[in-house]
Amino acid sequence: MSNTTESWGSRVGLILAMAGNAVGLGNFLRFPVQAVQNGGGTFIIPYLVSFLLMGIPLLWVEWAMGRFGGRFGDHSTPFILDNMTHKRFWKYFGVFGIFTNMGVMAYYTYIESWTLTYTLKSLKGDFLGMDLDALDSFFNGYVDLGSGINFPVWALLAFLITLSINIYILSRGLSAGIEKVAKIAMPLLIGFGAFLAIMSWTTGSTGRCEDCSTFVGLNFLWEPDFTTLANPKIWLAAAGQIFFTLSVGMGTIHCYSSYLKQKDDIALNAMSAGWMNGFVEIVLGSAVVIPIAVGYLGLDWVVDNAGFMMAFKTMPFLFDQWGSVLAVIAGVAWFGLLFFAGITSSLAMGTPWMGFVQDEFGWSKNRSAMLLGIAILAMGLPTIFFFEKGVFDEYDYWTGTVSLVIFALAEVILFAWVFGMDKGWKEITDGADMNVPRIYRPIIKYVTPLFIGIIFLTSLFKPLNGELSDWSTAFNSLFSGQGWPWANDSIINQIFHINTGVQWVADGHFTNMFYVDMSRFFLLACFFALVAMVKVASNRRKQNASS
Ligand code: PHE
Repeated sequence: MSNTTESWGSRVGLILAMAGNAVGLGNFLRFPVQAVQNGGGTFIIPYLVSFLLMGIPLLWVEWAMGRFGGRFGDHSTPFILDNMTHKRFWKYFGVFGIFTNMGVMAYYTYIESWTLTYTLKSLKGDFLGMDLDALDSFFNGYVDLGSGINFPVWALLAFLITLSINIYILSRGLSAGIEKVAKIAMPLLIGFGAFLAIMSWTTGSTGRCEDCSTFVGLNFLWEPDFTTLANPKIWLAAAGQIFFTLSVGMGTIHCYSSYLKQKDDIALNAMSAGWMNGFVEIVLGSAVVIPIAVGYLGLDWVVDNAGFMMAFKTMPFLFDQWGSVLAVIAGVAWFGLLFFAGITSSLAMGTPWMGFVQDEFGWSKNRSAMLLGIAILAMGLPTIFFFEKGVFDEYDYWTGTVSLVIFALAEVILFAWVFGMDKGWKEITDGADMNVPRIYRPIIKYVTPLFIGIIFLTSLFKPLNGELSDWSTAFNSLFSGQGWPWANDSIINQIFHINTGVQWVADGHFTNMFYVDMSRFFLLACFFALVAMVKVASNRRKQNASS
């Protein structure tokens, strides 16, 4: 319903922007860690299956929904969904597609700001000669860990700068801002990644310990192990990674695609961006952190210490082993790559809000971007101040994990069953520059919703550690009247704190649970603030229609 003049400048630009949206910190920080924590090569099969049965269908569905909405001049999920059904429920459900992006952007921009700081420090050579302990203390000092409530002056400053860069680019608009950045950032990112991958592959054995070889690390990530296919925990992790890395279930893709023209291809574009993301994740993402760390510290060390902080606390030390010149180059390449990967994603997270307020309230780009900046600042500060209390993880859990599954499940049902597969298939294949395999029609209708439905139920009721044996133990326990043994990270236990009970104060102090629960209420309030904005927008539409 807007008279926007925004659109993509070129097809290459669009694909790079979409790939930039998908390729992010998830590819380089989240993927390798998920793989290690889920047994290395055991992860790859559930990952690929999730990509084929859930990732690809969702890409097509979201691209198709976006272009469909764009036909009516709508660029935000509340009204894109509304066009498909005209049932009030879906309009409000569409709030997820704005909210999730803002919630993720709040904590994501914080990590992005670390990568900026680390790029500059690498360039200055500040990390040369630092051992692992020194890097650890630098990191802890930088984010001000260890003093209860954090007040990290430099980290805050870097966050403000990073956020301002994002806001400035967003205020420039789609083709003059985002597309331009993607055209520069994506090739550089791939170049840096290729350089680091080659360094990693040619390092081989270092003789530091018995199995200190980058090949041991690569093998560990690559050798598939079919015996664990029956482990639900690994499936959950793999499906979660597919969601996050492809940015599906978020509303971002809908927004980008709503600026397409009606005759533009979506089938092939979606595949190009999706496979480019897969390449960067599986080939480049698994070439750097893990193999290089195994090369110098051994596999056991890596398995014990894997976490996404490794990228910051370990990598500069490893690069140092290559001599100081290469250490500076590799440091800049690595953190620069992360920064580019991060910013092309955080920009994408800003666009649903931009599209929404420009369409509905007629705000200028500058004004929309400024207000987004204020909102993200307000949402981001708690994750910085109360980082140690678990607020950062809480945001990631609700906005970066659970919301995606809920939104994806609902949208695929909407698309295949409410909107209808006949119309839906036509939307996907109209203007297509490739033959979409017909097998995807029944997949989108039956397999994908079932797949996501099982993922959702499994996360809702996850018992103990979520291994296969934990499920049989849980059913035995339930049937013998001893209740269900909830996993701490099952959605039900997260909501009701069944395992621990609600405890906000202990020994006269607020507990971590207090901070976490408060941040949860805050997120909920943000969600309802957006619901209210959608309500106002929809009233305005009714008034305009009747006048
Ligand atoms: N896909 C991005 C990554 O892998 C994250 C992202 C989430 C981007 C949501 C846009 C929207 O890091």
